[in-house]
Amino acid sequence: MKTASIILAAGQGTRMRSRLPKVLHPILGRPMVLYALEAARAASDCPPILVVGHGAEAVRAAVEAADGNALFALQEQQLGTGHAVMSARAAVPEDADLVLVTCGDMPLLRAETLQRLVSRHQESGGVITMTTVVGDVPRGFGRILRGSDGSVRAIIEEADATPEQLALREYNVSAYCFQAGWLWEHLEKIQLSAKKEYYLTDLVGMAAAEGRRVQSLVLQDRLEALGINTRVDLADAEAAMRRRVNEGWMLAGVTLVDPATTTIEPDVQIGQDTVILPNTALRGKTVIGEDCLIGPNTTLLHTRVGSQTTICDSVAEYASVGSQVSIGPFCHLRKGAVLADRVHMGNFGEVKSSYLGENVKMGHFSYIGDAVIGANVNIGAGTITCNYDGVNKNATEIGENSFIGSDTMLVAPLKIGKNAKTGAGSVVTRDVPDNTLVYGVPARERKEQSGQ
Ligand code: UD1
Ligand code: CA
Repeated sequence: MKTASIILAAGQGTRMRSRLPKVLHPILGRPMVLYALEAARAASDCPPILVVGHGAEAVRAAVEAADGNALFALQEQQLGTGHAVMSARAAVPEDADLVLVTCGDMPLLRAETLQRLVSRHQESGGVITMTTVVGDVPRGFGRILRGSDGSVRAIIEEADATPEQLALREYNVSAYCFQAGWLWEHLEKIQLSAKKEYYLTDLVGMAAAEGRRVQSLVLQDRLEALGINTRVDLADAEAAMRRRVNEGWMLAGVTLVDPATTTIEPDVQIGQDTVILPNTALRGKTVIGEDCLIGPNTTLLHTRVGSQTTICDSVAEYASVGSQVSIGPFCHLRKGAVLADRVHMGNFGEVKSSYLGENVKMGHFSYIGDAVIGANVNIGAGTITCNYDGVNKNATEIGENSFIGSDTMLVAPLKIGKNAKTGAGSVVTRDVPDNTLVYGVPARERKEQSGQ
């Protein structure tokens, strides 16, 4: 059976008190609506249709940037969830047998749950299969009314519920699978509610009144039903998602010393037996190899790290780090920093748009920008590439096995040969040939170089 899917995301989200549309608020670094899209896609056979309204352009742009495959339907006025589904009808393929409907503000609902919802629907042969949750879920959920035979009779919205109905403890999650023909026919029959909205939930009562079977799938993991209405919910959802992702990594062989303070975004990859220390964030498309020790207090964004590398108390963005490298504490790798295997970068170092060859040692207080540094170079404490002349960024090159003395200023553009040396405190303004020692301000060559 062909299953289409609709994700409702046109509502205003007033209670977020935000200029950003609610469904674009991020959970683990990505707009929450993308989780709903991913889950819907996994459970349906055609590209999901996102119903947009409030902040439509912003939502559309953000979704298209991340996911080129979604379709959009515009609900100009937000007249309720039933009306929202109606707005998407034209975008649903004619030959769809089933229509899955979910909400854009429920990022924790799993793809597997939606797949189970669809297969339960197929087995039942009914017109609606809905998801419910039992227990303490206070926040404005519709209550499930069941008949004496246990079958679902209706969904009562909180605003319309009697005190007895309010006491019911089974709630409507707002994830449904409908038989398409029945859905289209009955959507038009929904009456305006007291709140002047067309409630999708009224369809359940209609089906029951017609003697149709309404099936339900009760969530095992109540957290999946967490919908986001306020920033308090947002923080709860972030914590729940963080725990879910972190548990996945722990079960896959990664040690997280303090999962509660470890943030691992969904696109990150981590190798076996790597240990992540507290207060660490691995963001974007960061990839970490095996047997690394990362953290504490470290943030890596879109950064690649080899194996057996140690990074502590440091920040890296768009950087690439080899194997058996040690970094930190207090280092900053900026965009385009590439560290080959066995580089050692001690405290207070900054590297930007530079390549550090194998075994380079940069122990203390240095800035290396726009440079290519050969293997085995020693960069003395306090070395600075003066790469910016006020107008241009200029390049520095240092040949392998050279020794840069403490507190050297390398005034770019500059090329230092192999096996060269600079004296402590020198200001190097001119290129230095291979096997040469320069010293002083500005640095001059010492003719008879005594020993290496
Ligand atoms: C809805 C359900 C309620 C359920 C709860 C679970 C209805 C009438 N009620 O209530 O039974 O327990 O979800 O979270 O469906 N939306 C639109 N267009 C609209 C109105 C809403 O796209 O005109 C979207 C919203 O952006 C949101 C979703 O539909 O993603 C749910 O709408 P919301 O107003 O949050 O419904 P609830 O009051 O939470
Ligand atoms: Ca809601």
